[in-house]
Amino acid sequence: MADEAGPLDPNQYRVDDADKGFFSAAISPDEDVVRQRVLDIQKKAYEACPYPCIKKFNFISLRMKGHPTYKEVIAHGGKDSALFLDLGCCMGTDVRNAVYEGYPASQIVGSDVVERYLTLGKELYNDKETGKIKFIAADVFDLPSAPPTAPRLSNVDGVTQLDDLAGSFTFIYIGSIFHFFSAQKQKELALRLLRLWTREPGAIIFGRHQGREEEGYLAQDHAEW
Ligand SMILES: C[S@@+](CC[C@H](N)C(=O)[O-])C[C@H]1O[C@@H](n2cnc3c(N)ncnc32)[C@H](O)[C@@H]1O
Repeated sequence: MADEAGPLDPNQYRVDDADKGFFSAAISPDEDVVRQRVLDIQKKAYEACPYPCIKKFNFISLRMKGHPTYKEVIAHGGKDSALFLDLGCCMGTDVRNAVYEGYPASQIVGSDVVERYLTLGKELYNDKETGKIKFIAADVFDLPSAPPTAPRLSNVDGVTQLDDLAGSFTFIYIGSIFHFFSAQKQKELALRLLRLWTREPGAIIFGRHQGREEEGYLAQDHAEW
């Protein structure tokens, strides 16, 4: 068993009362089944990626919905074919919750550099055959940094590459990623977000990241995973 972040501790498993409805609908109404499924997936994920975020069960925390902008995005409900991207979605818990709360699944894309997270997400939610969210494995830094030139797409049919959707996302969420990178890399990341974004009135890029009050770097063991 991988142990870079220490051995797994099932006692750290917990689901907030406010999130139980989602897990009941997305996995099972039986809380014991939910717990066992999550523990099984955590073990597999930790073998592949022994990161503190996996140990801390962050892959089942509904973090996006705590953002002040989230309600506005959900209330928009995908009108005007608005596409919604979660960049660095890990196992896709936040995007599946967005669908649970009313955003059309066929207009959502989850993307992550770790393909294993995406496949484990399908196993966790048992929706490999039925899920309508499009998941694309991609390193965002592989995208060109230039503004998009192709016309905006209004659906994700047939899309296989994240860059096929350059200039097409009305809403982009990015959570707990910027703080991994140096100032220069953060600027490069921001340019990729701008490439993916529609740049139309009402379009929103939102997210949450760790920072410091003064310019500088966080100690490695204080950066949130
Ligand atoms: C700390 S987790 C955050 C997960 C989720 N967004 C959240 O807020 O809880 C960071 C995620 O970003 C992904 N990631 C890191 N670098 C990336 C890159 N260059 N391109 C795409 N995803 C990346 C990681 O694989 C991981 O799933």
